[in-house]
Amino acid sequence: MNDYLEEMFGLRGRVAIVTGGSSGIGKAIATALARAGARVVLVARGAAALEETAAALRAQGHEAAWITADLASRDQVRRAGDEAAAVFGEPDILVNNAAVNLRPPLNDLDEHVWDTTMAVNLDAPHLLSMRFGPGMARRGHGRILHLSSQQAFRAYADSGAYGVAKAGLTALARSQAEAWSPHGVTCNVIVPGVVLTPLNARLAGDPATAAALAARTLTGRNGLAEDFAGTAVFLASSAAAAITGQAVFVDGGFSAH
Ligand SMILES: NC(=O)c1ccc[n+]([C@@H]2O[C@H](COP(=O)([O-])OP(=O)(O)OC[C@H]3O[C@@H](n4cnc5c(N)ncnc54)[C@H](OP(=O)(O)O)[C@@H]3O)[C@@H](O)[C@H]2O)c1
Repeated sequence: MNDYLEEMFGLRGRVAIVTGGSSGIGKAIATALARAGARVVLVARGAAALEETAAALRAQGHEAAWITADLASRDQVRRAGDEAAAVFGEPDILVNNAAVNLRPPLNDLDEHVWDTTMAVNLDAPHLLSMRFGPGMARRGHGRILHLSSQQAFRAYADSGAYGVAKAGLTALARSQAEAWSPHGVTCNVIVPGVVLTPLNARLAGDPATAAALAARTLTGRNGLAEDFAGTAVFLASSAAAAITGQAVFVDGGFSAH
């Protein structure tokens, strides 16, 4: 990279925490941040996938570590925050990407589904942001990214609690931007379209629906995890210092018609 691009987009010296960094979109984002120079700490439940992802990054010469935690538990969120910050130091970049996708028809949506969805998809991003945001503001620099969803903006396919939590994240980013952006911390959401990952594994077994969703997307295809690499690096970089409180759609035009 030439000096200009390094200054604009490079993340050397930055520390990033990526929840759900062991799979799908989070893995692609963690890899992109690492390749741009950041040291990354991955947080998820499953140790095997975490180690596999971190080992692949280390094999490419990047610095990567991982912490196991079930982000449905507030105690584990707090522990994960402290342990993640202990690895490479307090983070400059927080990516709240981990989520559960429990979408029964609304009439069957019990309190367990509601509570788990809110805990993992909304409470954990808030609690981790509260753990790191004020420190970022004190240091005068920070980047917080949340992964939202089309269902934050429109209801379809049993949006249920999932859509509510994702809508909460878009508002959370704005509240955080109000509080912390005067101190150099930008807070945004990234809005995917349909991306075939383990999260929506049922689509892999339903090629007709997957094809219909691809046809409904202006680019003519469903999303790939790698589609999020550039946006994540950009929003985490110096170049995006004036982008805050925004929802950035990386959806192939899914929402544009
Ligand atoms: N794929 C899509 O079409 C799509 C569309 C819109 C939005 N999104 C959003 O994009 C983000 C990433 O989704 P993805 O499709 O990449 O999902 P994915 O491949 O299923 O990955 C989810 C990640 O989150 C972790 N995770 C799940 N529950 C957790 C918990 N309770 N505690 C800690 N970690 C947990 C998983 O690891 P463990 O299972 O090991 O914990 C995994 O690393 C999510 O916020 C999702 O809502 C995805």
